[in-house]
Amino acid sequence: MATQRTSIHGQWSSRLVFILAATGSAVGLGNIWKFPYITGEHGGGAFVLVYLLCIALVGIPIMIAEVMLGRRGRQSPINTMRSLLAEEGAHRGWSLLGWSGMIAGFLILSYYSVIAGWALAYVFRTGSGLFVGATADGVSAIFGEFAGSPERLLGWHTLFMLMTMIVVARGVRSGLEQAVKFLMPALLVILLLLVGYAMASGDFMHGVRFLFQPDFSRLDQGAILVAMGHAFFTLSLGMGSIMVYGSYLPKEASIASSAVIIALADTAVALLAGMAIFPIVFGNGLEAGAGPSLIFQTLPLAFGQMPWGSFIGGLFFVLLVFAAWSSAISLIEPAVSWLVENRGWSRVYASTMTGAVTWALGIASIFSFSGVTLQDIILSLVGGEGEPAAGGLLAMTVFDILDYLTANIMLPLGGLFIALFAGHVMSRESVREELAMRSPLMFRLWFGTVRTVTPVLVVLVFLSAIGVIGGE
Ligand code: PHE
Repeated sequence: MATQRTSIHGQWSSRLVFILAATGSAVGLGNIWKFPYITGEHGGGAFVLVYLLCIALVGIPIMIAEVMLGRRGRQSPINTMRSLLAEEGAHRGWSLLGWSGMIAGFLILSYYSVIAGWALAYVFRTGSGLFVGATADGVSAIFGEFAGSPERLLGWHTLFMLMTMIVVARGVRSGLEQAVKFLMPALLVILLLLVGYAMASGDFMHGVRFLFQPDFSRLDQGAILVAMGHAFFTLSLGMGSIMVYGSYLPKEASIASSAVIIALADTAVALLAGMAIFPIVFGNGLEAGAGPSLIFQTLPLAFGQMPWGSFIGGLFFVLLVFAAWSSAISLIEPAVSWLVENRGWSRVYASTMTGAVTWALGIASIFSFSGVTLQDIILSLVGGEGEPAAGGLLAMTVFDILDYLTANIMLPLGGLFIALFAGHVMSRESVREELAMRSPLMFRLWFGTVRTVTPVLVVLVFLSAIGVIGGE
């Protein structure tokens, strides 16, 4: 089967637009909400170092491979995999890669939208001056009360899902370009401002030491998998988002240098967010390991104290919503493009249906923030009472389970198979032709990495997480 020359869904007008869109996908809640809180939970510096190594040795090589597969297949991830495996004479099982990615997209978006809803709510809360002069305890209490009211979370989750599906229905290209061109730089400016504020009034050196001074004794066994999982999550890898964006990339555009630019921009945003947040944490005696509420408990404190804080804070959350929005779009695009291709549905219909499913799934995560565990849900479904589970899966919330399953298992597995497909299944000639790297040395370096270093690292991290190697 010959590969298509262009995608039926259209094409980016230039490489720059692709870089913007992929950066829009990569930069999101993962950088500003998740990175600081998991860094706080896993003890700082050593975790950050492992994360950075994963970006360099696993993330960037896989991003190049994933974009390359997308551009060669020029269809939704499922159909891209199908036509590539036919072209390379590979086993049909490889199309599972597209399927699992599509499912991961649904699962991630279901809770991603709930958290994006928090950011939406905080636009108004911060903007209206709610936090002016508030104490750390006051800010935490406000968040606790908010996260514990499912009906409010549901309202914001619904609004965010609607926003996402409207853009997806119109096609990812319209709207996205403007959003990323102006809003991402604006987000960067406010982050820099926050770092400046943290320098002036927080415990800046303590924050910086926490982030950049590795203390390996604080690296718990699960941390390495979380760091690697986050490298996938933050770069939008392993599930087809970057693949589908690659399928809209013009033929001549260079893939490798684009991937490096995207990864650098993404990493810079995450590190800046960390440098803004941790000085505030330590300066106010807050808990670095506070979990998913971390930015909602620290940043409002800063906005409540700085001059113009309500305005700057409101604007910050607006930009955070935009960052989340451009990521959410890419989470669902693999499914929508597949429905359009295979079912002949219109984009509007496909977006409505996928949006409805994701919205409904999201409801399960909403209750997680009122402390409802998997066991509570099972008991309420079957009826009956039980002792609260002390640990394990039953004691986890749906949010925790989905987050762990997607970021730490599905995305790294997807990425592993992308690396294996590009490195071992596709012929070297197809790969070389598609990437068209100018320097043969760079090609050999990347190809060697993606064939061996990357897959071996991913497997080692999995093995270490289940205790097969390096156990206690
Ligand atoms: N990269 C996005 C973020 O950091 C989340 C995402 C994951 C988007 C996977 C698409 C695919 O917020």
